Amino acid sequence: MVAVAGRVVVVTGGRRGLGAALVDEVLARGARKVYATARSAYTDDRPEVVTADLEVRSAASVAALAEVASDAEIVFNNAGTLLPGPLLNDAFERVTATFDVNVFGPLRVARAFAPILAANGGGALVNMHSVLSWLAGGGAYGASKAAAWSVTNSLRLELARQDTQVVGVHAGFIDTDMVSAIELPKTKPTDVAARILDGLEDEVIEVLADDATVTVKAALSGPVERLVFSTAR
Ligand SMILES: NC(=O)c1ccc[n+]([C@@H]2O[C@H](COP(=O)([O-])OP(=O)(O)OC[C@H]3O[C@@H](n4cnc5c(N)ncnc54)[C@H](OP(=O)(O)O)[C@@H]3O)[C@@H](O)[C@H]2O)c1
Repeated sequence: MVAVAGRVVVVTGGRRGLGAALVDEVLARGARKVYATARSAYTDDRPEVVTADLEVRSAASVAALAEVASDAEIVFNNAGTLLPGPLLNDAFERVTATFDVNVFGPLRVARAFAPILAANGGGALVNMHSVLSWLAGGGAYGASKAAAWSVTNSLRLELARQDTQVVGVHAGFIDTDMVSAIELPKTKPTDVAARILDGLEDEVIEVLADDATVTVKAALSGPVERLVFSTAR
């Protein structure tokens, strides 16, 4: 079991949304220190929280975080972006930006922190995917989360040799800024964070954060044309 108590944790995008809930949850479980990042400077009064700037699209920014957080033992690749639009007609820069943040960003973080996790005993890397990793209809966001899922699964193999636990998280709608315009049932970020931490501490390698995600995962062996995102779902 990878207990969070006493550990040093990094949460990318820890200022708000699910990231803020993850910071609260790891502290509730006794984390010794949490590096929480945002793209601009902010403060947090809790003595265990160290705030840090991070732009996951910048290798230099990721390297600077890794230099500061060289005592990290658990890294949450939580930062992500949703730029809605169809794959065919949306501006191509929005598609590449989505992949840069949601796929290459977490990979930059994983590459920078792998030696740190190895030096600190192995630890864990937790990557945020989505139920849209498995469903058509999510545009560049869904495609990026499918790629992120694959990256995580390969990183799990590559990091096994240094005893780093790699956890992939799939979730449906979570009640954060990202989906504030969508009027559908959403899970509370605190509930998702608790489920992720339960999975991490139980050494689960894939966390399904809600019932919708469990249903879609069970359908993966069925016809691919049924794996479609629909707001009527
Ligand atoms: N909300 C959902 O329904 C849902 C469902 C499944 C999966 N997810 C995934 O869960 C994760 C958290 O999402 P959320 O709902 O909390 O989203 P959110 O409320 O939009 O917050 C996004 C977070 O990512 C950070 N971020 C965005 N772009 C970044 C960049 N280029 N560099 C560094 N940090 C960046 C933001 O930091 P700043 O404070 O600097 O803006 C913020 O902390 C994401 O990976 C998302 O794809 C969300």
